[in-house]
Amino acid sequence: MKFNNIKAIIFDLDGVITNTSEYHYRAWKKLADEIGISFNRDINEKLRGIPRKESLEIILGDLIIDEKEKERLMEIKNNYYIEYLKNMGPDNILPGSLEIIKEAREAGIKTGIGSSSKNAKTIINNLRLGKYIDAISDGYSVSNPKPAPDLFLDCAAKLGVAPSEAIVVEDAESGVEAAINGGFRVIGIGPAERVGKAHIVLQSFEGVNLKDFINPGSGL
Ligand code: BG6
Ligand code: MG
Repeated sequence: MKFNNIKAIIFDLDGVITNTSEYHYRAWKKLADEIGISFNRDINEKLRGIPRKESLEIILGDLIIDEKEKERLMEIKNNYYIEYLKNMGPDNILPGSLEIIKEAREAGIKTGIGSSSKNAKTIINNLRLGKYIDAISDGYSVSNPKPAPDLFLDCAAKLGVAPSEAIVVEDAESGVEAAINGGFRVIGIGPAERVGKAHIVLQSFEGVNLKDFINPGSGL
């Protein structure tokens, strides 16, 4: 299938534009080892698209700790994560993503980022992507996390487009649900078990062009 009348594409960041999942894994793992709780890559997979605090709560499981201690643990994890982000540059953009962003802009389609991450702007700067992006909604923009549609609605409002005129690109199940809940057209990146509810599922943007998912003459 292909979409019609598209005026904007809103990209999730982690897992769509770049692969930060490994850095999140290493940072959470370091913290988990220090406080003596188990954490592995399977649990890390469940944290795709999930904000920092909810991620910590998933990792803690049945362990009950107070808010102040949660804040302290999140700060420790984030400091580890920020150290990993320092190694990140334009080479860390996933294959095909920058090409799709450039192609969209050349076709007059606006580009936005809709990411749950409070580090989104740092990552965009490290990837040198800022000049290609018209609007950013991040972990500071709204209070209801995905699967609520709020983050994508916030980005669409900044771009001045209706949800029905925008495609959301997501790699997380919660993100695909958020976009569908908001009335967006949705491209899922990854396995169908994870993003199968999206209108179109792609393994990646490698070798993909806009005309593969947008009808010519309707936005192109
Ligand atoms: C999402 C990631 O983009 O951002 C999640 O998929 C992460 O894994 C979330 O937990 C929050 O990130 P940050 O950078 O604010 O801790
Ligand atoms: Mg993601």
